[in-house]
Amino acid sequence: EFENVTIDRKYHWAVRLIINNYIDSLFHIEDRTEEEENKLLSLFELLETQGEGTSYAVTLSQLNLAEYYAYKGDKRYKDVLKKLHHIKDRELVRHIVPASTRIKAIYYSRVGNFKKSLILILESLKKSEYYGNTLEETILMESAMDIFKRVTAQFSAVQKRKFFTDTPIFKYLLKVQAVKDTYLGKEHAKNVSILARRLGEILGLEEEELEILEFAGLLHDVGKLYIPWFTLNKITPLDDEDWEIIKIHPVKGAEMLENLGMWREAEAVRNHHERVDGSGYPLGKSELNILDEIVGISDLFDAAVSPSRRYKAHKSKDELIRELLKGEPFKFSAVVLNALGQAVDKGLA
Ligand SMILES: [Fe+2]
Ligand SMILES: [Fe+2]
Repeated sequence: EFENVTIDRKYHWAVRLIINNYIDSLFHIEDRTEEEENKLLSLFELLETQGEGTSYAVTLSQLNLAEYYAYKGDKRYKDVLKKLHHIKDRELVRHIVPASTRIKAIYYSRVGNFKKSLILILESLKKSEYYGNTLEETILMESAMDIFKRVTAQFSAVQKRKFFTDTPIFKYLLKVQAVKDTYLGKEHAKNVSILARRLGEILGLEEEELEILEFAGLLHDVGKLYIPWFTLNKITPLDDEDWEIIKIHPVKGAEMLENLGMWREAEAVRNHHERVDGSGYPLGKSELNILDEIVGISDLFDAAVSPSRRYKAHKSKDELIRELLKGEPFKFSAVVLNALGQAVDKGLA
């Protein structure tokens, strides 16, 4: 309870920080009760009385308040953001600029102007890249997904895939992911997508499944957007802790797609590092769908033959195929290995 406390001025920053953390915890409750809602508003008010300033805590709470209004489709978000215009502190500006644009985007999506909202999200992503703000990138992802979900709510699976592959912001998210994941480079997602479709064709799958393969192949590593930059790009070998973090990327990617109602694509993304002998991650599953395996083998194949930095001694295609067939035949089922062999023979991989 902060109401009746007099605070020594020199501790104001600490109080602001505590209040701000409290705001943050209330802010992230999805269905707030009326009591929580009132508490949140009174905390915002309280923070305002703690004095203007350029401290991190004040700025964050003002951004929180602006976001709060934006989510409600309340124009007052503008007034709150205006207060931040005068701030010159570099560190804060780096946070404020992309966040303000994102908040605007949230407002427009709430009032139903999706087009404007998506343009703003793209702008915000570019700004956060410009300011090197990777934290903002992650938050932006969530906002972008929220807007996508609203736009595509009534779409069929086919329409959704078309919408996403045609949307500049989705391409941009993939670009950000590729830039972040410097070990594999920007062609990896596209290569996996093409190869996965080809393997599906060799196996005589239906058009719908081929489209799922193409889409899941493109997005298989999108969950890496959630992995910190310094873990993805570590020059020294990864330790156990790093691996634990990296292993969440299929789950994060799958959650994104599930959230958009793309269940089958999500499943293939979730399982692209699982292997039929149970040696994969994150769960060590052994019962896999053919689509999961196709995305998995396409990913492994492209990563192994591309001249990446982490796996320096990249292999020739023939070598790799031989190795897959002899050395590790139990990681993939025979049909899938066979399809890859055929693709290589025909010069398709
Ligand atoms: Fe992956
Ligand atoms: Fe990959």
